[in-house]
Amino acid sequence: MRDLTEANLTEAVLQKLSNTKDPRLKEVMSSLIQCLHTFIREVEPTQDEWFDAIQFLTEVGQKCTDKRQEFILMSDTLGASMLIDAINNRKVEGTTESSVLGPYYRESAPELASGQSISMTKEGETIQVSGHVSDQKHVPIKGAILDVWQTAPNGLYDVQDTKQPDMNLRGKFRTDTKGRYLFHTVKPASYPIPTDGPVGKMLSGLSWHPNRPAHIHFIVSAKGFKPVTTQLFIDGDPYLESDAVFAVKDSLVAKIVSREGASSKDTASNNVSPVHNDIHYDFRLEAAQ
Ligand SMILES: [Fe+2]
Repeated sequence: MRDLTEANLTEAVLQKLSNTKDPRLKEVMSSLIQCLHTFIREVEPTQDEWFDAIQFLTEVGQKCTDKRQEFILMSDTLGASMLIDAINNRKVEGTTESSVLGPYYRESAPELASGQSISMTKEGETIQVSGHVSDQKHVPIKGAILDVWQTAPNGLYDVQDTKQPDMNLRGKFRTDTKGRYLFHTVKPASYPIPTDGPVGKMLSGLSWHPNRPAHIHFIVSAKGFKPVTTQLFIDGDPYLESDAVFAVKDSLVAKIVSREGASSKDTASNNVSPVHNDIHYDFRLEAAQ
């Protein structure tokens, strides 16, 4: 391995993998090295440009905290997260389509009683979200868990906004014996992904806008079924056609149906504002293999 040249350097690096024991690691690194070298040969970066790229990745890492994941933002905005999702969750006829988890999921959302609101403040327009969880043949699934999270009307998640109570707009709900779920929330807002870091700089350099259409995140799971991580997008949002993270699917666009006034039954005992808006959406899960 001496006197290596532009012509034989890639081969020399690949040959070093002959001693790698883990076959998957060998496969992954072989492909990564070849793609990286092909990229370099194609682009022919200057040494300054290569240092800029290394500096960019360094800043992405340095921007990460327990509440901020800049690498996920980078993966999302380059379409990598949705490609990984598409490969790992190929569409199964009759089941709910998946979408990206995003960087704001928290595992420890509280379990709430059916009908309760996930909004801990009085801000925003109330929506009632309801529907069924069933299998591919529409058989209701009892005891399915819907783990829900979304932004406040200001477009921020609780972890981004010190003015919001901890765990605001997060909750877990369980389906009843007929597979029904029901909760209240407030209308989510479209929002820009954080632009004060290196990914924001990248988007601005590319002249790409950072906005995501308004959505509610869900992880729907049940014993004996494959869980689905997905999002419901609000119909009519101006960013549905140009989501900064490429996550919108037609089957996940939900309409808010507005009603005149609200019955006392809708708001009873939950301390929520009168309901004027409804989203109805049924989730269908694939049986686990
Ligand atoms: Fe989100």
